[in-house]
Amino acid sequence: MAQLEQIAAPGSEWWRSAVIYQIYPRSFADASGDGIGDLPGITSRLDSLKELGVDAIWLSPFMTSPQRDAGYDVADYRDVDPLFGTLADFDRMLEESHARGIRVIVDLVPNHSSDQHVWFQEALKAGPGSPERARYVFRDGRGKNGELPPNNWESVFGGGMWERVTEADGTPGQWYLHIFDATQPDFDWTNEEVKEEFRSILRFWLDRGVDGFRVDVAHGMVKEAGLPDYAPVADADSMGGGEENVPYWGQDAVHDIYRDWHKVLAEYDGDRALCGEAWLPTLKKTALWVRPDEMHQTFNFPYLMTPWDAKALGDVIRESLDEFGAVGAPSTWVLSNHDVVRHATRLALTDENPQGEGIGPNTPNKPDTKIGLARARAATTLMLALPGSAYLYQGEELGLPEAMEIPDEFRQDPTWFRTNGERYGRDGCRVPLPWEADAPAFGFNETGLSWLPQPSDWAAYSRDTEEGDPLSTLSLYKELLAARREHGFGAGSLVWEDAGKDAVAFRRGDVHVIANLGTKPLALPAGATVVLKSQPFGGADLPVDTTVWYTTA
Ligand code: GLC
Repeated sequence: MAQLEQIAAPGSEWWRSAVIYQIYPRSFADASGDGIGDLPGITSRLDSLKELGVDAIWLSPFMTSPQRDAGYDVADYRDVDPLFGTLADFDRMLEESHARGIRVIVDLVPNHSSDQHVWFQEALKAGPGSPERARYVFRDGRGKNGELPPNNWESVFGGGMWERVTEADGTPGQWYLHIFDATQPDFDWTNEEVKEEFRSILRFWLDRGVDGFRVDVAHGMVKEAGLPDYAPVADADSMGGGEENVPYWGQDAVHDIYRDWHKVLAEYDGDRALCGEAWLPTLKKTALWVRPDEMHQTFNFPYLMTPWDAKALGDVIRESLDEFGAVGAPSTWVLSNHDVVRHATRLALTDENPQGEGIGPNTPNKPDTKIGLARARAATTLMLALPGSAYLYQGEELGLPEAMEIPDEFRQDPTWFRTNGERYGRDGCRVPLPWEADAPAFGFNETGLSWLPQPSDWAAYSRDTEEGDPLSTLSLYKELLAARREHGFGAGSLVWEDAGKDAVAFRRGDVHVIANLGTKPLALPAGATVVLKSQPFGGADLPVDTTVWYTTA
Protein backbone atom coordinates (compact mmCIF):
# COMPACT_ATOMS: atom_id res chain seq x y z
CA MET A 1 0.00 0.00 0.00
CA ALA A 2 2.99 2.34 0.35
CA GLN A 3 2.70 3.86 -3.11
CA LEU A 4 -1.02 4.38 -2.77
CA GLU A 5 -0.56 6.60 0.22
CA GLN A 6 1.38 9.04 -1.95
CA ILE A 7 -1.72 9.84 -3.93
CA ALA A 8 -4.22 9.84 -1.09
CA ALA A 9 -3.60 9.38 2.60
CA PRO A 10 -5.94 7.01 4.46
CA GLY A 11 -9.06 8.90 5.39
CA SER A 12 -8.79 11.17 2.40
CA GLU A 13 -11.72 9.51 0.66
CA TRP A 14 -9.87 9.12 -2.62
CA TRP A 15 -13.07 8.03 -4.38
CA ARG A 16 -14.54 11.54 -4.13
CA SER A 17 -12.36 12.80 -6.94
CA ALA A 18 -10.83 9.70 -8.55
CA VAL A 19 -10.67 8.95 -12.25
CA ILE A 20 -11.61 5.28 -12.51
CA TYR A 21 -10.90 3.30 -15.67
CA GLN A 22 -13.18 0.40 -16.47
CA ILE A 23 -11.44 -2.71 -17.73
CA TYR A 24 -13.62 -5.20 -19.54
CA PRO A 25 -11.30 -8.18 -19.00
CA ARG A 26 -12.51 -10.20 -22.00
CA SER A 27 -11.39 -7.43 -24.33
CA PHE A 28 -8.47 -5.63 -22.71
CA ALA A 29 -5.39 -7.79 -23.33
CA ASP A 30 -5.04 -11.51 -23.91
CA ALA A 31 -1.83 -13.08 -22.59
CA SER A 32 -2.92 -16.69 -23.18
CA GLY A 33 -3.76 -16.09 -26.84
CA ASP A 34 -7.11 -17.88 -26.76
CA GLY A 35 -8.96 -14.83 -28.08
CA ILE A 36 -10.38 -13.77 -24.70
CA GLY A 37 -8.55 -11.26 -22.53
CA ASP A 38 -7.26 -12.31 -19.11
CA LEU A 39 -5.71 -11.16 -15.83
CA PRO A 40 -2.06 -11.71 -16.87
CA GLY A 41 -2.91 -9.62 -19.95
CA ILE A 42 -4.10 -6.80 -17.69
CA THR A 43 -0.95 -7.02 -15.57
CA SER A 44 1.22 -6.85 -18.67
CA ARG A 45 -0.43 -3.59 -19.77
CA LEU A 46 -0.64 -1.73 -16.45
CA ASP A 47 2.15 0.65 -17.43
CA SER A 48 -0.04 2.05 -20.18
CA LEU A 49 -2.69 2.93 -17.58
CA LYS A 50 -0.10 4.48 -15.32
CA GLU A 51 1.02 6.62 -18.28
CA LEU A 52 -2.57 7.53 -19.02
CA GLY A 53 -2.84 8.83 -15.46
CA VAL A 54 -5.86 7.08 -13.92
CA ASP A 55 -6.31 6.65 -10.16
CA ALA A 56 -8.11 3.33 -10.14
CA ILE A 57 -9.34 0.51 -12.31
CA TRP A 58 -12.65 -1.31 -12.10
CA LEU A 59 -12.68 -4.81 -13.54
CA SER A 60 -15.89 -6.29 -14.93
CA PRO A 61 -16.39 -9.86 -13.60
CA PHE A 62 -13.63 -12.44 -13.96
CA MET A 63 -15.08 -14.92 -11.44
CA THR A 64 -16.00 -18.52 -12.27
CA SER A 65 -18.82 -18.40 -14.76
CA PRO A 66 -20.31 -20.28 -17.70
CA GLN A 67 -20.15 -16.89 -19.50
CA ARG A 68 -23.74 -16.82 -20.64
CA ASP A 69 -23.77 -13.08 -19.95
CA ALA A 70 -20.05 -12.40 -20.37
CA GLY A 71 -19.28 -13.21 -16.72
CA TYR A 72 -22.26 -11.39 -15.17
CA ASP A 73 -23.52 -14.89 -14.41
CA VAL A 74 -21.32 -16.01 -11.54
CA ALA A 75 -21.08 -19.67 -10.51
CA ASP A 76 -18.41 -19.21 -7.81
CA TYR A 77 -17.95 -15.78 -6.25
CA ARG A 78 -14.66 -16.74 -4.63
CA ASP A 79 -12.64 -17.97 -7.57
CA VAL A 80 -11.29 -16.83 -10.93
CA ASP A 81 -12.65 -18.39 -14.11
CA PRO A 82 -9.89 -20.37 -15.87
CA LEU A 83 -10.56 -18.22 -18.96
CA PHE A 84 -9.12 -15.27 -17.06
CA GLY A 85 -6.45 -17.05 -15.01
CA THR A 86 -6.18 -17.98 -11.34
CA LEU A 87 -6.49 -16.35 -7.93
CA ALA A 88 -2.69 -16.10 -7.95
CA ASP A 89 -2.92 -14.11 -11.21
CA PHE A 90 -5.46 -11.86 -9.52
CA ASP A 91 -3.21 -11.28 -6.52
CA ARG A 92 -0.32 -10.42 -8.80
CA MET A 93 -2.45 -8.01 -10.84
CA LEU A 94 -3.60 -6.33 -7.61
CA GLU A 95 -0.08 -6.04 -6.26
CA GLU A 96 1.29 -4.66 -9.52
CA SER A 97 -1.55 -2.15 -9.72
CA HIS A 98 -0.96 -0.97 -6.16
CA ALA A 99 2.75 -0.73 -6.86
CA ARG A 100 1.87 1.78 -9.58
CA GLY A 101 -0.44 3.76 -7.31
CA ILE A 102 -3.56 2.40 -9.03
CA ARG A 103 -6.44 1.18 -6.86
CA VAL A 104 -8.52 -1.82 -7.87
CA ILE A 105 -12.29 -2.19 -7.76
CA VAL A 106 -13.95 -5.51 -8.54
CA ASP A 107 -17.44 -6.17 -9.81
CA LEU A 108 -19.90 -7.80 -7.45
CA VAL A 109 -23.03 -9.39 -8.91
CA PRO A 110 -25.49 -9.82 -6.02
CA ASN A 111 -28.85 -9.65 -7.81
CA HIS A 112 -28.51 -13.06 -9.40
CA SER A 113 -26.12 -15.96 -9.75
CA SER A 114 -25.50 -18.33 -12.63
CA ASP A 115 -27.84 -21.30 -12.86
CA GLN A 116 -24.64 -23.33 -12.46
CA HIS A 117 -24.07 -21.93 -8.95
CA VAL A 118 -24.14 -24.77 -6.41
CA TRP A 119 -27.02 -23.09 -4.56
CA PHE A 120 -29.20 -23.04 -7.65
CA GLN A 121 -28.39 -26.64 -8.49
CA GLU A 122 -29.34 -27.58 -4.92
CA ALA A 123 -32.56 -25.56 -5.23
CA LEU A 124 -33.54 -27.48 -8.35
CA LYS A 125 -33.00 -30.81 -6.60
CA ALA A 126 -34.55 -29.88 -3.28
CA GLY A 127 -38.07 -29.13 -4.50
CA PRO A 128 -40.85 -26.69 -3.63
CA GLY A 129 -40.97 -25.25 -0.11
CA SER A 130 -37.35 -26.20 0.70
CA PRO A 131 -34.82 -23.82 2.31
CA GLU A 132 -32.67 -24.33 -0.82
CA ARG A 133 -35.43 -22.89 -3.03
CA ALA A 134 -35.95 -20.03 -0.59
CA ARG A 135 -32.55 -18.57 -1.58
CA TYR A 136 -34.02 -17.73 -5.00
CA VAL A 137 -37.44 -16.50 -6.12
CA PHE A 138 -39.43 -19.65 -6.90
CA ARG A 139 -43.22 -19.44 -7.23
CA ASP A 140 -46.04 -21.67 -8.38
CA GLY A 141 -47.41 -20.76 -11.79
CA ARG A 142 -50.81 -19.30 -12.53
CA GLY A 143 -53.45 -21.11 -14.58
CA LYS A 144 -55.21 -24.38 -13.95
CA ASN A 145 -52.04 -26.46 -13.78
CA GLY A 146 -49.53 -23.75 -13.01
CA GLU A 147 -48.74 -23.54 -16.69
CA LEU A 148 -48.67 -19.72 -16.78
CA PRO A 149 -45.86 -17.61 -15.29
CA PRO A 150 -46.54 -16.12 -11.83
CA ASN A 151 -46.80 -12.60 -13.31
CA ASN A 152 -46.33 -10.71 -16.58
CA TRP A 153 -42.85 -9.27 -16.03
CA GLU A 154 -40.55 -9.07 -19.05
CA SER A 155 -36.83 -9.80 -18.90
CA VAL A 156 -34.39 -6.94 -19.58
CA PHE A 157 -32.94 -9.13 -22.32
CA GLY A 158 -36.36 -9.84 -23.90
CA GLY A 159 -38.93 -12.59 -23.37
CA GLY A 160 -40.54 -13.42 -20.03
CA MET A 161 -38.90 -12.98 -16.63
CA TRP A 162 -39.85 -16.48 -15.42
CA GLU A 163 -38.59 -19.94 -16.33
CA ARG A 164 -40.43 -23.13 -15.43
CA VAL A 165 -38.45 -26.03 -13.97
CA THR A 166 -38.99 -29.74 -14.22
CA GLU A 167 -39.24 -31.27 -10.76
CA ALA A 168 -37.17 -34.30 -9.70
CA ASP A 169 -40.06 -36.65 -10.51
CA GLY A 170 -40.17 -35.39 -14.11
CA THR A 171 -43.34 -33.30 -13.77
CA PRO A 172 -43.55 -29.63 -14.85
CA GLY A 173 -42.92 -27.66 -11.69
CA GLN A 174 -42.45 -24.21 -10.19
CA TRP A 175 -41.15 -21.10 -11.93
CA TYR A 176 -38.12 -19.02 -10.98
CA LEU A 177 -37.55 -15.32 -11.53
CA HIS A 178 -34.73 -13.92 -13.69
CA ILE A 179 -34.57 -10.20 -14.48
CA PHE A 180 -31.94 -11.05 -17.09
CA ASP A 181 -31.26 -14.32 -18.92
CA ALA A 182 -32.89 -17.58 -17.82
CA THR A 183 -29.39 -18.73 -16.82
CA GLN A 184 -29.28 -15.87 -14.25
CA PRO A 185 -31.77 -16.70 -11.46
CA ASP A 186 -32.45 -13.84 -9.02
CA PHE A 187 -31.60 -14.28 -5.35
CA ASP A 188 -34.26 -13.64 -2.72
CA TRP A 189 -32.77 -10.75 -0.73
CA THR A 190 -35.26 -11.15 2.08
CA ASN A 191 -33.43 -14.37 2.95
CA GLU A 192 -30.93 -14.06 5.83
CA GLU A 193 -28.71 -16.79 4.36
CA VAL A 194 -28.28 -14.76 1.15
CA LYS A 195 -27.35 -11.68 3.18
CA GLU A 196 -24.77 -13.58 5.22
CA GLU A 197 -23.27 -15.18 2.13
CA PHE A 198 -22.68 -11.80 0.50
CA ARG A 199 -21.14 -10.29 3.61
CA SER A 200 -18.71 -13.17 3.51
CA ILE A 201 -18.03 -12.66 -0.23
CA LEU A 202 -17.30 -8.97 0.41
CA ARG A 203 -14.83 -9.95 3.11
CA PHE A 204 -13.19 -12.52 0.85
CA TRP A 205 -12.17 -9.81 -1.64
CA LEU A 206 -11.55 -7.12 0.97
CA ASP A 207 -9.15 -9.49 2.74
CA ARG A 208 -7.30 -9.96 -0.56
CA GLY A 209 -6.83 -6.18 -0.68
CA VAL A 210 -9.36 -4.82 -3.16
CA ASP A 211 -10.20 -1.13 -2.79
CA GLY A 212 -13.88 -1.45 -3.47
CA PHE A 213 -16.76 -2.93 -5.43
CA ARG A 214 -18.86 -1.87 -8.35
CA VAL A 215 -22.24 -3.32 -7.42
CA ASP A 216 -24.11 -4.78 -10.38
CA VAL A 217 -27.85 -4.07 -10.71
CA ALA A 218 -27.88 -2.23 -7.39
CA HIS A 219 -31.45 -1.10 -8.07
CA GLY A 220 -32.90 -4.55 -8.70
CA MET A 221 -32.15 -6.74 -5.70
CA VAL A 222 -35.45 -6.24 -3.88
CA LYS A 223 -38.82 -6.81 -5.56
CA GLU A 224 -42.15 -5.33 -4.50
CA ALA A 225 -43.99 -7.67 -2.11
CA GLY A 226 -46.62 -9.76 -3.87
CA LEU A 227 -44.80 -9.39 -7.22
CA PRO A 228 -47.64 -7.43 -8.87
CA ASP A 229 -48.07 -7.40 -12.65
CA TYR A 230 -46.25 -4.63 -14.50
CA ALA A 231 -45.57 -3.96 -18.17
CA PRO A 232 -42.97 -1.36 -19.20
CA VAL A 233 -43.84 1.24 -21.83
CA ALA A 234 -42.81 0.35 -25.37
CA ASP A 235 -39.20 1.24 -26.29
CA ALA A 236 -38.21 1.77 -22.65
CA ASP A 237 -34.49 1.71 -21.84
CA SER A 238 -33.95 -1.89 -20.91
CA MET A 239 -32.13 -1.28 -17.62
CA GLY A 240 -35.04 0.65 -16.18
CA GLY A 241 -33.69 4.21 -16.30
CA GLY A 242 -36.86 5.75 -17.65
CA GLU A 243 -39.76 4.89 -15.38
CA GLU A 244 -41.06 5.45 -11.86
CA ASN A 245 -42.60 2.76 -9.66
CA VAL A 246 -41.37 -0.34 -11.37
CA PRO A 247 -41.92 -3.28 -8.96
CA TYR A 248 -38.45 -4.73 -9.57
CA TRP A 249 -36.39 -1.50 -9.70
CA GLY A 250 -35.49 0.90 -6.91
CA GLN A 251 -37.49 -0.62 -4.04
CA ASP A 252 -36.86 1.05 -0.67
CA ALA A 253 -35.56 -2.06 1.07
CA VAL A 254 -32.42 -2.20 -1.11
CA HIS A 255 -31.08 0.60 1.05
CA ASP A 256 -30.97 -1.66 4.12
CA ILE A 257 -28.59 -3.94 2.23
CA TYR A 258 -26.21 -1.09 1.45
CA ARG A 259 -26.29 0.21 5.01
CA ASP A 260 -25.25 -3.26 6.08
CA TRP A 261 -22.42 -3.44 3.52
CA HIS A 262 -21.24 0.05 4.41
CA LYS A 263 -20.52 -1.30 7.90
CA VAL A 264 -18.62 -4.27 6.51
CA LEU A 265 -16.37 -2.00 4.44
CA ALA A 266 -15.87 0.34 7.38
CA GLU A 267 -14.25 -2.54 9.31
CA TYR A 268 -11.33 -2.26 6.87
CA ASP A 269 -8.69 0.44 6.62
CA GLY A 270 -7.80 2.27 3.42
CA ASP A 271 -11.08 3.90 2.41
CA ARG A 272 -12.72 0.98 0.64
CA ALA A 273 -15.66 2.09 -1.48
CA LEU A 274 -18.92 0.87 -3.00
CA CYS A 275 -20.16 2.16 -6.33
CA GLY A 276 -23.69 1.29 -7.35
CA GLU A 277 -24.90 0.47 -10.81
CA ALA A 278 -28.44 1.76 -10.39
CA TRP A 279 -30.43 2.94 -13.42
CA LEU A 280 -33.07 5.22 -11.95
CA PRO A 281 -35.43 7.73 -13.54
CA THR A 282 -34.26 10.82 -11.64
CA LEU A 283 -31.12 12.19 -10.04
CA LYS A 284 -33.06 12.80 -6.84
CA LYS A 285 -33.71 9.09 -6.59
CA THR A 286 -30.18 8.18 -7.69
CA ALA A 287 -28.78 10.28 -4.85
CA LEU A 288 -30.57 8.08 -2.30
CA TRP A 289 -28.00 5.36 -3.08
CA VAL A 290 -25.20 7.55 -1.71
CA ARG A 291 -26.57 8.86 1.54
CA PRO A 292 -23.78 8.98 4.14
CA ASP A 293 -24.35 5.48 5.53
CA GLU A 294 -24.91 3.75 2.16
CA MET A 295 -22.77 3.53 -0.96
CA HIS A 296 -19.92 5.93 -1.60
CA GLN A 297 -20.63 6.52 -5.25
CA THR A 298 -23.25 5.65 -7.79
CA PHE A 299 -23.11 5.94 -11.56
CA ASN A 300 -24.68 9.08 -12.98
CA PHE A 301 -26.76 7.47 -15.73
CA PRO A 302 -29.01 10.51 -16.29
CA TYR A 303 -25.78 12.33 -17.31
CA LEU A 304 -24.68 9.44 -19.54
CA MET A 305 -28.08 9.38 -21.27
CA THR A 306 -28.13 13.14 -21.97
CA PRO A 307 -28.13 13.95 -25.70
CA TRP A 308 -25.70 16.45 -27.26
CA ASP A 309 -27.71 19.55 -26.38
CA ALA A 310 -26.42 22.54 -24.45
CA LYS A 311 -29.51 23.11 -22.32
CA ALA A 312 -29.96 19.44 -21.46
CA LEU A 313 -26.28 19.06 -20.62
CA GLY A 314 -26.11 22.20 -18.48
CA ASP A 315 -29.28 21.16 -16.67
CA VAL A 316 -28.12 17.65 -15.87
CA ILE A 317 -24.76 18.88 -14.55
CA ARG A 318 -26.49 21.47 -12.34
CA GLU A 319 -28.98 18.96 -11.05
CA SER A 320 -26.25 16.36 -10.42
CA LEU A 321 -24.20 18.76 -8.34
CA ASP A 322 -27.33 19.81 -6.42
CA GLU A 323 -28.75 16.37 -5.76
CA PHE A 324 -25.52 14.59 -4.87
CA GLY A 325 -24.36 17.65 -2.97
CA ALA A 326 -27.56 17.58 -0.92
CA VAL A 327 -26.60 14.18 0.51
CA GLY A 328 -22.92 15.04 0.89
CA ALA A 329 -21.76 12.73 -1.90
CA PRO A 330 -19.54 13.48 -4.90
CA SER A 331 -21.23 13.41 -8.25
CA THR A 332 -19.85 10.85 -10.65
CA TRP A 333 -19.57 11.34 -14.40
CA VAL A 334 -19.55 8.64 -17.02
CA LEU A 335 -20.02 8.65 -20.79
CA SER A 336 -19.37 5.04 -21.80
CA ASN A 337 -19.40 1.52 -20.41
CA HIS A 338 -19.88 -2.07 -21.59
CA ASP A 339 -23.69 -1.73 -21.73
CA VAL A 340 -24.14 1.34 -23.92
CA VAL A 341 -23.19 2.48 -27.42
CA ARG A 342 -19.73 4.07 -27.17
CA HIS A 343 -20.03 7.83 -26.80
CA ALA A 344 -17.86 8.50 -29.87
CA THR A 345 -20.79 7.04 -31.80
CA ARG A 346 -23.75 7.70 -29.52
CA LEU A 347 -23.32 11.47 -29.47
CA ALA A 348 -23.84 11.57 -33.25
CA LEU A 349 -27.00 9.43 -33.28
CA THR A 350 -29.83 10.93 -35.28
CA ASP A 351 -32.45 8.26 -34.44
CA GLU A 352 -33.78 7.00 -31.12
CA ASN A 353 -31.64 4.18 -29.81
CA PRO A 354 -32.78 3.00 -26.37
CA GLN A 355 -30.14 1.41 -24.14
CA GLY A 356 -29.73 -2.25 -25.09
CA GLU A 357 -30.75 -1.83 -28.72
CA GLY A 358 -27.25 -1.40 -30.12
CA ILE A 359 -26.24 -0.72 -33.72
CA GLY A 360 -25.66 -3.35 -36.38
CA PRO A 361 -25.40 -3.91 -40.13
CA ASN A 362 -29.12 -3.22 -40.71
CA THR A 363 -29.47 -0.14 -38.51
CA PRO A 364 -30.61 2.76 -40.74
CA ASN A 365 -28.97 6.23 -40.56
CA LYS A 366 -25.70 5.20 -38.95
CA PRO A 367 -24.08 7.98 -36.95
CA ASP A 368 -21.26 9.93 -38.61
CA THR A 369 -17.97 8.79 -37.08
CA LYS A 370 -16.22 12.12 -37.58
CA ILE A 371 -18.96 14.16 -35.88
CA GLY A 372 -19.17 11.53 -33.15
CA LEU A 373 -15.45 11.70 -32.41
CA ALA A 374 -15.41 15.50 -32.28
CA ARG A 375 -18.36 15.50 -29.87
CA ALA A 376 -16.86 12.70 -27.77
CA ARG A 377 -13.61 14.60 -27.38
CA ALA A 378 -15.52 17.77 -26.53
CA ALA A 379 -17.75 15.91 -24.05
CA THR A 380 -14.78 14.34 -22.28
CA THR A 381 -12.87 17.61 -22.20
CA LEU A 382 -15.88 19.10 -20.41
CA MET A 383 -16.40 16.08 -18.14
CA LEU A 384 -12.84 15.99 -16.88
CA ALA A 385 -13.16 19.59 -15.71
CA LEU A 386 -16.12 18.78 -13.47
CA PRO A 387 -15.83 18.26 -9.71
CA GLY A 388 -16.38 14.69 -8.58
CA SER A 389 -15.24 11.29 -9.75
CA ALA A 390 -15.10 10.32 -13.42
CA TYR A 391 -15.35 6.90 -15.01
CA LEU A 392 -13.65 6.06 -18.29
CA TYR A 393 -14.36 2.93 -20.31
CA GLN A 394 -11.46 1.12 -21.94
CA GLY A 395 -10.90 2.26 -25.51
CA GLU A 396 -12.53 5.66 -25.18
CA GLU A 397 -9.05 7.11 -24.65
CA LEU A 398 -8.36 5.91 -28.20
CA GLY A 399 -11.55 7.50 -29.51
CA LEU A 400 -12.91 4.08 -30.42
CA PRO A 401 -16.29 4.15 -32.12
CA GLU A 402 -18.95 1.47 -31.69
CA ALA A 403 -18.23 -1.54 -33.91
CA MET A 404 -21.33 -1.24 -36.10
CA GLU A 405 -20.80 -4.03 -38.64
CA ILE A 406 -20.35 -7.16 -36.53
CA PRO A 407 -21.83 -9.99 -38.62
CA ASP A 408 -24.76 -11.82 -37.01
CA GLU A 409 -22.89 -15.10 -36.63
CA PHE A 410 -20.40 -13.52 -34.21
CA ARG A 411 -22.96 -11.97 -31.86
CA GLN A 412 -22.73 -13.03 -28.22
CA ASP A 413 -25.03 -10.76 -26.19
CA PRO A 414 -28.05 -12.68 -24.81
CA THR A 415 -30.17 -9.66 -25.82
CA TRP A 416 -29.64 -10.59 -29.47
CA PHE A 417 -30.81 -14.15 -28.93
CA ARG A 418 -33.71 -13.43 -26.57
CA THR A 419 -35.17 -10.79 -28.93
CA ASN A 420 -34.64 -12.99 -32.02
CA GLY A 421 -32.31 -10.41 -33.48
CA GLU A 422 -34.63 -7.44 -32.96
CA ARG A 423 -32.13 -5.76 -30.66
CA TYR A 424 -28.44 -6.03 -31.56
CA GLY A 425 -27.47 -5.63 -27.91
CA ARG A 426 -24.10 -4.58 -26.54
CA ASP A 427 -21.42 -6.45 -28.49
CA GLY A 428 -20.48 -3.34 -30.49
CA CYS A 429 -18.89 -1.65 -27.46
CA ARG A 430 -17.12 -4.80 -26.27
CA VAL A 431 -14.71 -5.52 -29.12
CA PRO A 432 -11.08 -6.25 -28.08
CA LEU A 433 -8.79 -3.23 -27.93
CA PRO A 434 -6.22 -2.37 -30.60
CA TRP A 435 -2.74 -1.95 -29.09
CA GLU A 436 -0.41 -2.16 -32.08
CA ALA A 437 -1.30 -1.32 -35.66
CA ASP A 438 0.84 -4.00 -37.26
CA ALA A 439 0.43 -6.93 -34.89
CA PRO A 440 -2.00 -9.88 -34.99
CA ALA A 441 -5.39 -8.84 -33.53
CA PHE A 442 -3.85 -5.34 -33.35
CA GLY A 443 -1.71 -6.51 -30.42
CA PHE A 444 -4.62 -7.79 -28.30
CA ASN A 445 -2.69 -11.06 -28.26
CA GLU A 446 -0.04 -12.87 -30.28
CA THR A 447 -2.29 -15.37 -32.02
CA GLY A 448 -4.66 -13.07 -33.86
CA LEU A 449 -7.72 -14.69 -32.29
CA SER A 450 -10.49 -12.43 -31.02
CA TRP A 451 -13.81 -13.43 -29.42
CA LEU A 452 -15.52 -10.60 -31.34
CA PRO A 453 -14.10 -9.53 -34.71
CA GLN A 454 -12.18 -6.24 -34.69
CA PRO A 455 -13.07 -3.81 -37.51
CA SER A 456 -10.35 -3.83 -40.15
CA ASP A 457 -9.81 -0.05 -39.92
CA TRP A 458 -8.89 -0.11 -36.23
CA ALA A 459 -5.14 0.12 -36.92
CA ALA A 460 -5.73 3.88 -37.00
CA TYR A 461 -6.96 3.75 -33.39
CA SER A 462 -4.21 1.52 -32.07
CA ARG A 463 -2.34 2.76 -29.03
CA ASP A 464 1.07 2.76 -30.68
CA THR A 465 -0.22 4.85 -33.59
CA GLU A 466 -1.86 7.36 -31.25
CA GLU A 467 1.11 7.50 -28.90
CA GLY A 468 3.18 9.08 -31.63
CA ASP A 469 0.59 11.70 -32.52
CA PRO A 470 0.24 14.81 -30.34
CA LEU A 471 -3.24 15.42 -31.77
CA SER A 472 -4.57 11.91 -31.12
CA THR A 473 -7.39 11.20 -28.71
CA LEU A 474 -4.91 9.34 -26.50
CA SER A 475 -2.69 12.42 -26.28
CA LEU A 476 -5.76 14.51 -25.43
CA TYR A 477 -6.77 12.15 -22.60
CA LYS A 478 -3.25 12.19 -21.16
CA GLU A 479 -3.18 15.96 -21.29
CA LEU A 480 -6.63 16.21 -19.71
CA LEU A 481 -5.85 13.83 -16.86
CA ALA A 482 -2.57 15.57 -16.07
CA ALA A 483 -4.21 19.01 -16.14
CA ARG A 484 -7.17 17.83 -14.06
CA ARG A 485 -4.76 16.59 -11.43
CA GLU A 486 -2.59 19.70 -11.58
CA HIS A 487 -5.59 22.01 -11.09
CA GLY A 488 -7.25 19.76 -8.50
CA PHE A 489 -10.46 19.77 -10.55
CA GLY A 490 -11.76 16.55 -8.98
CA ALA A 491 -12.51 18.46 -5.79
CA GLY A 492 -14.15 21.82 -5.12
CA SER A 493 -16.97 23.54 -6.90
CA LEU A 494 -17.62 25.44 -10.12
CA VAL A 495 -18.98 28.85 -11.03
CA TRP A 496 -21.42 28.93 -13.94
CA GLU A 497 -20.82 31.39 -16.77
CA ASP A 498 -23.22 32.58 -19.42
CA ALA A 499 -22.02 32.01 -22.96
CA GLY A 500 -25.36 31.81 -24.73
CA LYS A 501 -27.85 29.07 -25.36
CA ASP A 502 -25.55 26.89 -27.46
CA ALA A 503 -22.75 26.64 -24.92
CA VAL A 504 -22.07 25.06 -21.56
CA ALA A 505 -19.64 27.28 -19.70
CA PHE A 506 -18.21 27.47 -16.21
CA ARG A 507 -15.13 28.54 -14.33
CA ARG A 508 -12.87 26.50 -12.08
CA GLY A 509 -10.66 29.00 -10.27
CA ASP A 510 -8.73 30.83 -12.97
CA VAL A 511 -9.61 28.35 -15.67
CA HIS A 512 -12.69 28.91 -17.83
CA VAL A 513 -14.25 25.93 -19.57
CA ILE A 514 -16.57 26.32 -22.53
CA ALA A 515 -18.16 23.77 -24.84
CA ASN A 516 -19.84 24.71 -28.12
CA LEU A 517 -22.81 22.41 -28.74
CA GLY A 518 -24.42 24.66 -31.35
CA THR A 519 -24.18 24.93 -35.11
CA LYS A 520 -22.05 28.08 -35.42
CA PRO A 521 -18.58 29.03 -34.13
CA LEU A 522 -18.62 31.02 -30.89
CA ALA A 523 -16.40 34.00 -30.20
CA LEU A 524 -14.00 33.45 -27.30
CA PRO A 525 -13.49 36.46 -25.02
CA ALA A 526 -10.77 38.88 -26.10
CA GLY A 527 -7.49 37.99 -24.44
CA ALA A 528 -8.42 34.34 -23.92
CA THR A 529 -5.38 32.08 -23.73
CA VAL A 530 -6.27 28.51 -24.56
CA VAL A 531 -4.83 26.04 -22.04
CA LEU A 532 -6.29 22.95 -23.61
CA LYS A 533 -8.61 22.17 -26.51
CA SER A 534 -10.60 19.13 -27.54
CA GLN A 535 -9.48 19.46 -31.17
CA PRO A 536 -7.07 21.69 -33.04
CA PHE A 537 -8.38 24.96 -34.47
CA GLY A 538 -6.95 28.29 -35.51
CA GLY A 539 -8.41 31.74 -35.03
CA ALA A 540 -10.28 33.30 -32.17
CA ASP A 541 -13.59 31.47 -32.56
CA LEU A 542 -14.51 28.22 -30.87
CA PRO A 543 -15.66 25.79 -33.58
CA VAL A 544 -18.82 23.68 -33.13
CA ASP A 545 -18.47 20.42 -31.20
CA THR A 546 -15.38 21.73 -29.44
CA THR A 547 -14.47 22.41 -25.80
CA VAL A 548 -11.62 24.57 -24.53
CA TRP A 549 -10.10 25.36 -21.18
CA TYR A 550 -8.74 28.91 -21.22
CA THR A 551 -7.45 31.67 -18.98
CA THR A 552 -7.63 35.41 -19.38
CA ALA A 553 -4.86 37.82 -18.58
C1 GLC B 1 -25.44 -5.12 -15.37
C2 GLC B 1 -24.22 -5.31 -16.22
C3 GLC B 1 -24.63 -5.93 -17.51
C4 GLC B 1 -25.26 -7.27 -17.21
C5 GLC B 1 -26.42 -7.11 -16.24
C6 GLC B 1 -26.85 -8.45 -15.69
O1 GLC B 1 -26.31 -4.23 -15.94
O2 GLC B 1 -23.56 -4.10 -16.39
O3 GLC B 1 -23.57 -6.08 -18.39
O4 GLC B 1 -25.73 -7.87 -18.38
O5 GLC B 1 -26.04 -6.35 -15.13
O6 GLC B 1 -25.91 -8.93 -14.78
